[in-house]
Amino acid sequence: MLLSIFSKLMATSVFLLLLPLIFFSSSSSSTIDRLSRASSLSVEHADDVLTSRPNGIFSAGFFPVGDNAYCFAVWFSESYSEGNRTIVWMANRDQPVNGRKSELSVLKSGNVIITDAGRFTVWSTDTVSDSAVFLDLLENGNLILQNSEGGVLWQSFNSPTDTLLPQQLFTKDMKLVSSRSQGNFSSGFYKLYFGDDNVLRLLYGGPEISVYWPDPELMSWEAGRSTYNSSRIAFLDPLGFFSSSDNFNFTSADYGERVQRILKLDFDGNIRLYSRNYGMEKWTVSWQAMSQPCRIHGTCGPNSICSYIPNFGRNCSCLQGFKMRDRTDWSLGCVQEFNLTCTRNETSFLKLSNVEFFGYDYGFYPNYTFGMCENLCLQTCDCKGFQFKFIKHNHPDNIPYCYPKTQLLNGHHSPNFQGDLYLKVPKKTLPFQETGLYCYSTVVKQLNRTYTKHPENASQKFVVRFAIVVGAVELGVIFVVWCFFLRVHQNSSAETQNYYRMTNSFRKFTLSELKKATRGFSEEIGRGAGGVVYKGVLSDHRIAAIKRLNYASYQGEAEFQAEVSTIGKLNHINLTEMWGYCAEGKHRLLVYKYMEHGSLAEQLSSNALSWEKRFEIAVGTAKGLAYLHEECLEWVLHCDVKPQNILLDSNYQPKVSDFGLSWPLKRGGQANKSFSKIRGTRGYMAPEWVFNLTITSKVDVYSYGMVLLEMISGKGPTEEIENRRVVTWVREKMKQATGMSSWIEMIIDPKLDGKYDKCRVEILFEVALKCVAEDKDARPTMNQVVEMLLRQENDSELV
Ligand SMILES: *[C@@H]1O[C@H](CO)[C@@H](O)[C@H](O)[C@H]1NC(C)=O
Ligand SMILES: *[C@@H]1O[C@H](CO)[C@@H](O)[C@H](O)[C@H]1NC(C)=O
Ligand SMILES: *[C@@H]1O[C@H](CO)[C@@H](O)[C@H](O)[C@H]1NC(C)=O
Ligand SMILES: *[C@@H]1O[C@H](CO)[C@@H](O)[C@H](O)[C@H]1NC(C)=O
Ligand SMILES: *[C@@H]1O[C@H](CO)[C@@H](O)[C@H](O)[C@H]1NC(C)=O
Ligand SMILES: *[C@@H]1O[C@H](CO)[C@@H](O)[C@H](O)[C@H]1NC(C)=O
Ligand SMILES: *[C@@H]1O[C@H](CO)[C@@H](O)[C@H](O)[C@H]1NC(C)=O
Ligand SMILES: *[C@@H]1O[C@H](CO)[C@@H](O)[C@H](O)[C@H]1NC(C)=O
Ligand SMILES: *[C@@H]1O[C@H](CO)[C@@H](O)[C@H](O)[C@H]1NC(C)=O
Repeated sequence: MLLSIFSKLMATSVFLLLLPLIFFSSSSSSTIDRLSRASSLSVEHADDVLTSRPNGIFSAGFFPVGDNAYCFAVWFSESYSEGNRTIVWMANRDQPVNGRKSELSVLKSGNVIITDAGRFTVWSTDTVSDSAVFLDLLENGNLILQNSEGGVLWQSFNSPTDTLLPQQLFTKDMKLVSSRSQGNFSSGFYKLYFGDDNVLRLLYGGPEISVYWPDPELMSWEAGRSTYNSSRIAFLDPLGFFSSSDNFNFTSADYGERVQRILKLDFDGNIRLYSRNYGMEKWTVSWQAMSQPCRIHGTCGPNSICSYIPNFGRNCSCLQGFKMRDRTDWSLGCVQEFNLTCTRNETSFLKLSNVEFFGYDYGFYPNYTFGMCENLCLQTCDCKGFQFKFIKHNHPDNIPYCYPKTQLLNGHHSPNFQGDLYLKVPKKTLPFQETGLYCYSTVVKQLNRTYTKHPENASQKFVVRFAIVVGAVELGVIFVVWCFFLRVHQNSSAETQNYYRMTNSFRKFTLSELKKATRGFSEEIGRGAGGVVYKGVLSDHRIAAIKRLNYASYQGEAEFQAEVSTIGKLNHINLTEMWGYCAEGKHRLLVYKYMEHGSLAEQLSSNALSWEKRFEIAVGTAKGLAYLHEECLEWVLHCDVKPQNILLDSNYQPKVSDFGLSWPLKRGGQANKSFSKIRGTRGYMAPEWVFNLTITSKVDVYSYGMVLLEMISGKGPTEEIENRRVVTWVREKMKQATGMSSWIEMIIDPKLDGKYDKCRVEILFEVALKCVAEDKDARPTMNQVVEMLLRQENDSELV
């Protein structure tokens, strides 16, 4: 009898414990494994933690992220040391809540919300349900909201933060975003996502935006990635094999069962697979994406140098004459302590051996001596320094290359790097004393959130009155903070815009600005595959060509901005200058410098080009393309080189246009399967397209060869002469001819009226025919083309 009452009591207490709403914090053995309607977890009760059933591998609850600041998170229940919880998901990482009166509640309506200090909703699942709903934590770490029929209304696996768990699908709409720093869980600068070309990549989105994984110096296919599978899905299996639809895969170093694993985008921008045996063990790295941490963009911020120290990791240091912007945060980099004038005799260069800065060149100059390179940088006020290195060629000697820099980003020191950076500094202040070198700081900034405690024993009346006063004060504070935030925000965006304008005048335009500039898009000056081009006058009186893209919503604003600003930074005298872009709603526009003499196509047909001009245009175009290829950002294969895309400025200086964006544009507009066939223009397209072979930079070389043939012969590649394509006809004429001059006479553009330089025609032909070789490996690179043409130029000058 007594026993039965006791057991009934036990049952009741167990039942009570399972009741979702816990009023009192009971003994530590109590656990909650399910939260139902109209119940909540409070930040104030340490036991208000949801535990996964049956083994309790994961827990979910409020986690302290700062002084009196909490985030609702999911973590591994077992930690190898007190306070070192492994967080795998966070709901409100960017809006931590107060340590008093904050809670996560499952509302009657079926919505799950987190309220800050009992007042503001900082996060919600935005779900609705008429029937009963339950919030469960599954054994795989998925926090899941189900209705009574078992239908899933919401799950944390669909909105990951910086961690992917085994069995969690990573799909096209998801991204992993790193945390800000080791101690700060709010959103940081690094992002893993599927790009518009179906490739899984890592992006640095700090003050500058750039992709750093897969290696931007490689084409997707060179990095082993495929752009053809548009399912955009990736998955880590419990054994430690990760595979992605772009053909990327890896196997964990400790492949096998009974191991816990997490794939995490760490705050330092590296993505790592961690594993541990079940139990209170430390996590060990069993795979990582970047073996050289200094290749991660933005890792040390601008104007600093990253060096890799084995067993320690990266080590950041400021360039000489610079100091850390914020002593606790390397990602902000360093600021200049000296003032540079633009006066030649007051400026000097400081050599930094084996130091490389990646990107942000305004051109690359082959066969430039040190003196020429120095002069080039001195002449340009914006030049912050230059990279100087020798590159091996077929020639007996290596050729010096010069890369002047507009910004000093992604700097790293490596003994293996054969090249030096020359930093522009004022003459007076040399030599610099060695600036301090700082290790990576993990100092956690305290959040400034003051909370006035309610007096516990006060009367009801007093509490109410007090609450009203506190509420009013808080509202005031919030108002002040909001205004401050707005101001800071405006200032900072204005600052970055100025910054852009200063460096290479690249910026974002508003739609209304461009409407005004083009007088409502009234003057159309061109029309291409990608969109319509209008002439416009900007508010600063510069004349612009404004291209309005057809496939307006082909990609998200952030990705569009990332790609456009990368392209905007490709700065070379033979590329059209992009001044900026506009991305508003579905509108995507590009703003270029206006070119007085239109396109090469127009000039060829109107016969306005002398032989000398044609040759200069050939050289300039080759230099522009060589620069594009040298920079090797994978989307900057041109893929549509043709006379219509070579524009001429007031001095007939050629500017290659329409690069970079032509790729995503056409891809976005068409089904993925057909995209390989629609790239480029008939006649100029390399045979690889037709035969579905690997596409490399050699497709541009082929098209360039066709353009050269057209410039020499005056005949377009689709024209037929004696029933043959131009290439075939030219080759036949060459064979038939006996003397040199006779074949030249047969094929040269009759519009030139015999006014040409035979020697140069010969070299141009030689180059053109090499470029249009059927076998892509037989074609020269654009760099080699430039060299061949320049060699000719030098030789004829000597004569
Ligand atoms: C957590 O682990 C790190 C690195 O192993 C250690 O430095 C830190 O002291 C630990 N934190 C706590 C609270 O134990
Ligand atoms: C695309 O990738 C997915 C996932 O890796 C795979 O299941 C599918 O078969 C692939 N599709 C094609 C056409 O290769
Ligand atoms: C993994 O990647 C390699 C190299 O790209 C590829 O050959 C292999 O087929 C891939 N394996 C799977 C299962 O996708
Ligand atoms: C970082 O680099 C500086 C200079 O190269 C060196 O003095 C310092 O010891 C390095 N830090 C570590 C932790 O190795
Ligand atoms: C740089 O110029 C600013 C104002 O133009 C001046 O306040 C500052 O002292 C100068 N710094 C040095 C190192 O000359
Ligand atoms: C630099 O040259 C200018 C004019 O040529 C002269 O006025 C100035 O004093 C020179 N400055 C130095 C530091 O030599
Ligand atoms: C580099 O330039 C020098 C003269 O400036 C010239 O003699 C040499 O042939 C050039 N080399 C190449 C590969 O163009
Ligand atoms: C984390 O970093 C963000 C962004 O820099 C900052 O606003 C926030 O105060 C930081 N939080 C903590 C706890 O340091
Ligand atoms: C925290 O904020 C309050 C009010 O906004 C301010 O008066 C106080 O100086 C701040 N404290 C710190 C350390 O910034």
